[in-house]
Amino acid sequence: MSDFDGGQQGRRRLLPILGGTHGGRSAMTCKYRCANACFHEAPNTSDNEYFGDMVDTAMSRRGLLRTGAAAVVVAGTGAASSVGAVAAAPAAPQVSRAKPPSSIKPEPPEYGRPVSFTAVGDNMLDAVVVPNGYDWSVTISWGDPVEPGAPEFDFDNQTAEAQQRQFGYNCDYVAVLPLDRNFDRALLWVNHEYTNEELMFRGWAGPESATEEQLRIAMAAHGGSILEIERVGDTGEWRRTRRPRRHNRRIHTGTEFHLTGPVAGSDLVRTTADPDGTTVYGMLNNCAGGLTPWGTILSGEENVHQYFGASADITDEERARRYSRYGLRTEAGTERGWERVDERFDLATEPNEPNRFGWIVELDPFDPASTPRKRTALGRFKHEGANVFVGADGRVAAYMGDDERFEYVYKFVSAKKYRDGTSRRDREHNMTLLDDGDLYVARFTGNSPEFPDSPPEDGLFDGTGEWLPLVVDGQSQIDGMSVEEVLTFARIAADKAGATKMDRPEDVEPHPVTGTVYMSLTNNTARSPEQVDEANPRPENKFGHVISVDEDNGDVASTTFTWRIVIVAGDPDDPETYYDGFDKSQVSQISCPDNVAFDPSGRLWLATDGMGGTLNANDGMFVMPIEGEDKGHLRRFVSVPIGAECCGPFITPDGRTATVAVQHPGDGDGASPENPLSTFPYGDQPRPSVITIWRTSPTGGPYIGD
Ligand code: FEO
Ligand code: CA
Ligand code: CA
Ligand code: CA
Repeated sequence: MSDFDGGQQGRRRLLPILGGTHGGRSAMTCKYRCANACFHEAPNTSDNEYFGDMVDTAMSRRGLLRTGAAAVVVAGTGAASSVGAVAAAPAAPQVSRAKPPSSIKPEPPEYGRPVSFTAVGDNMLDAVVVPNGYDWSVTISWGDPVEPGAPEFDFDNQTAEAQQRQFGYNCDYVAVLPLDRNFDRALLWVNHEYTNEELMFRGWAGPESATEEQLRIAMAAHGGSILEIERVGDTGEWRRTRRPRRHNRRIHTGTEFHLTGPVAGSDLVRTTADPDGTTVYGMLNNCAGGLTPWGTILSGEENVHQYFGASADITDEERARRYSRYGLRTEAGTERGWERVDERFDLATEPNEPNRFGWIVELDPFDPASTPRKRTALGRFKHEGANVFVGADGRVAAYMGDDERFEYVYKFVSAKKYRDGTSRRDREHNMTLLDDGDLYVARFTGNSPEFPDSPPEDGLFDGTGEWLPLVVDGQSQIDGMSVEEVLTFARIAADKAGATKMDRPEDVEPHPVTGTVYMSLTNNTARSPEQVDEANPRPENKFGHVISVDEDNGDVASTTFTWRIVIVAGDPDDPETYYDGFDKSQVSQISCPDNVAFDPSGRLWLATDGMGGTLNANDGMFVMPIEGEDKGHLRRFVSVPIGAECCGPFITPDGRTATVAVQHPGDGDGASPENPLSTFPYGDQPRPSVITIWRTSPTGGPYIGD
């Protein structure tokens, strides 16, 4: 393992190890993040087959997996060419990253740089730890003013009216968009995924006894923030502007959104307040996201089921079936109490309101007066996020994960073509691309059909795949379901199509240069030995894995692909683990990979959610070269304070700054305002925050990850 670096830190305080849960999170995180989804039966009870169902189950799979993984390691270290043979380079790659201004200064780093920093060691400190030669600062924290006129944060005197204009709670996806050619000014976008009322309010005793103002504050703390930031001198550091600026905006549960695409206006999304089925207030549980080449934000509504209560049992069978498939309650009761202050969150009286959440949202950060859009053509599920790639013919693919145990990976392919221009008309055209196109779901097939009864014969977990059609040319591809039904109940359509049940697909992101798609499968401890397949080869998958996918012929519209497992996460001493064939004695251990990002040098970044409960280490952000001699050399770049999950991350297009969301610091069982587990960012209470990390020493160049 790497030396403990202990370089730049905030406050160090050794704290007791958190109790683990199914995926490695604290019980508090499970409760507020996704309403204990992992404690319930997985909502996917479809009978489409696991790969393992198709082979003889006579032998012990677990023992064979162990052998198989060891074989992977041998093949990876000793016969690296076999890896390359599987992951053939896609043809005619096209750069697809969001464009910075054409003459951005300073110059971005060259492609393919190695990593040379000393890895940050595992720790459980109440501190941000970065490598020597780097520094960090807090850019913005929960409650800080975002909109002009917003009051300063006052923990003991919160109001919903103030929270609607202040930085929201648990921050997840972040993006930085240049505002000028010198890159001295930028916009910072941040998702606010969910709230933890036990840490936000003193004496919280549950939604039933909460004041109506507390419920409204929690509602207002969801959504997103957009704010102007500015460079500190000529360093890589960014800070928020001293006064809120023109672009600054809070998106919250009172913000108007429009539904667009095939489901807009359909019977499935009409409500008492919106008989046209086109206007929704708010976006909920926005987790990961992506930046489009035309400079808009895509943001995924994830665990939206938890916001809906029911004043009576749901007795209609079809409704109950659809609700159950999405984790919505069918019996009277509440999770968050929101229906007490806004009746649209009562399933018994407003049956279609949940159908208006669970979409990919597109927002224009450059226009503070714009109305964000929920793009229904991309399907409704527990969206982790979406990331797009422009194909050689100009069509755009959006890759998406549905983050729940045994759920699926999806792809949308636009009907229209991207316009590579900068005029207003080009941009307006590109902002219609996600309203019209085809939707697919992935089936992964291993190329070692004897697995798991025999180890993969080629020593690798890899194979081919198909994008199974759900909607093509505006027509439903699923018997008995209309286009509107396929999109609104995409999980049910994907069950019927026969998609592969995955180990919680989180961020799914194409490499901006090669188009190879990397996906984090964060964990799935519910997978039994009988349910393993070559793409999800580990039973009781506590640590997660990473898969890469190459479209056949490099064509984003291809309906076939090849895939391989890049990382099998966990303790490198565990023979089941695999780090892309690299010498495991030299890597930083990782578990529960979640957010995926790439830097301008083409390196893969992974942020984690759950290392505390799986490897007794704080979460963090890791970088790994994916080509060249250092391929697979994963190093930990940062660890975040105890109880926190590391989100974002975003490496700026000049390569000088990493922007990271520190989500739910101090989230741990028994923690409260009177007994905080963390005080990050070091006031009285823990406050979710966005931090920036930059290079301070010139050794090795002024770039992040060097
Ligand atoms: Fe919000 Fe999938 O993690
Ligand atoms: Ca996530
Ligand atoms: Ca990402
Ligand atoms: Ca996660």
